Amino acid sequence: MYMDKKTSEISGLYKLSVPERLEMLRAFSDLTPEEMETLSKTGSLTPELADKLIENVVSTLELPVGVAPNFRINGKDYLIPMAIEEASVVAACSNAARIARNSGGFVSESTEPIMIGQIQIIEYGNLDSLKNKIFEHEGEILKLANTRSKTLSSLGAGARSLEIRELADPGRSVVVHLLIDVRDAMGANVVNSMCETVAPYLEEITGCRTNLRILSNLTPHRISRSKAVFKKSLIGGEEVVDNMISAYEMANVDPFRAATHNKGIMNGIDAVLMATLNDWRSAEANAHTYHALTGNLSLTRFSKTPEGDLLGEIEIPIAVGTVGGSTNTVRKAAIFRKVLNVGNSREFANVLAAVGLAQNFAAVRALSSEGIQKGHMSLHARSLAASVGAQDTEIDEISETMVQSGSISMTRAREILNEIRKRTNK
Ligand code: MEV
Repeated sequence: MYMDKKTSEISGLYKLSVPERLEMLRAFSDLTPEEMETLSKTGSLTPELADKLIENVVSTLELPVGVAPNFRINGKDYLIPMAIEEASVVAACSNAARIARNSGGFVSESTEPIMIGQIQIIEYGNLDSLKNKIFEHEGEILKLANTRSKTLSSLGAGARSLEIRELADPGRSVVVHLLIDVRDAMGANVVNSMCETVAPYLEEITGCRTNLRILSNLTPHRISRSKAVFKKSLIGGEEVVDNMISAYEMANVDPFRAATHNKGIMNGIDAVLMATLNDWRSAEANAHTYHALTGNLSLTRFSKTPEGDLLGEIEIPIAVGTVGGSTNTVRKAAIFRKVLNVGNSREFANVLAAVGLAQNFAAVRALSSEGIQKGHMSLHARSLAASVGAQDTEIDEISETMVQSGSISMTRAREILNEIRKRTNK
């Protein structure tokens, strides 16, 4: 209908309705009637609403949302909604929270929500004279930036100060940082607007050219910390405690292990961000770049208490908001935020830090004792069983059979399902 031969060069795709785009997709990708019907089905996020959130919408995608119980953070109980496709993350997180709860739960704290906006200055000549010109006008620059948000100004927040950094390519670029208190927002929009507003003024007072004007997703002034004690008697004894400390030490010096160790932390944090429809990519970028400033590859730290129990601690930059963003547009995300019950951005960050620590504790504990595959594979086996169409008790039987034999795959799940159905004449 929209093409006589297969080409991905399509102009005006954005002007079509969602069903028209789907039709285009059918023609290009030879979708079957069943595939078309599946893509046409959407849930509470309607095609009309989805079409307003992003461009060229053809469908929506569901993810399982689980709830992790047992969390006690700063004396308050939380149920944590987690949206993720990976089996065993929710179970591991809940289990870690149960163990931490036994020692009083997590103690979390977050700094003020200060974001950095960057304005790149190029062709700047003499650095000292550039710095002087900018700092002479600091008050005006901050005032101009603050015209971008009446809300932040009325809260006594907004742009607070400036930093000037010379980068590693001497003589080529200098970057001006606007330090901005964004209160309960994640802050990307307001920070970007402020940067774009002050850039022409910087050009005027310095006579230099500006180039990039954008927030930094690295937020060293917006840091969350959480800690919890995990009793040795509940995690397999002192040997497991020692193994976990040694695992942390490895992650802190070996980038290959650190990537996996920190990925485990983000399994938990991203899942909460997804359930509440927050920007998990910025959280990832932030967390994985932080070591460049601290020198610590691992975002967590494990040590032994005088009693021989395990003390877990996390220090992680987290920029998350409770106002703005997509949460309030998408009904389910809003409901999951209600379930999470966080009053402001700092409380939200406190919860995320505790979840990250719990997730990391669970992974490192499994790795330092029986290994990850035992628990993971039985849950993975269940999800494979479900994916080949098994129902209720069939799922139990298929997963148990696969785990016992050690042969866990989709092909094997299908075979066992066929055997069960033959036996029960289904
Ligand atoms: C899997 O998604 C995450 C782990 O690999 C994390 C880790 O190794 O610490 C289990």
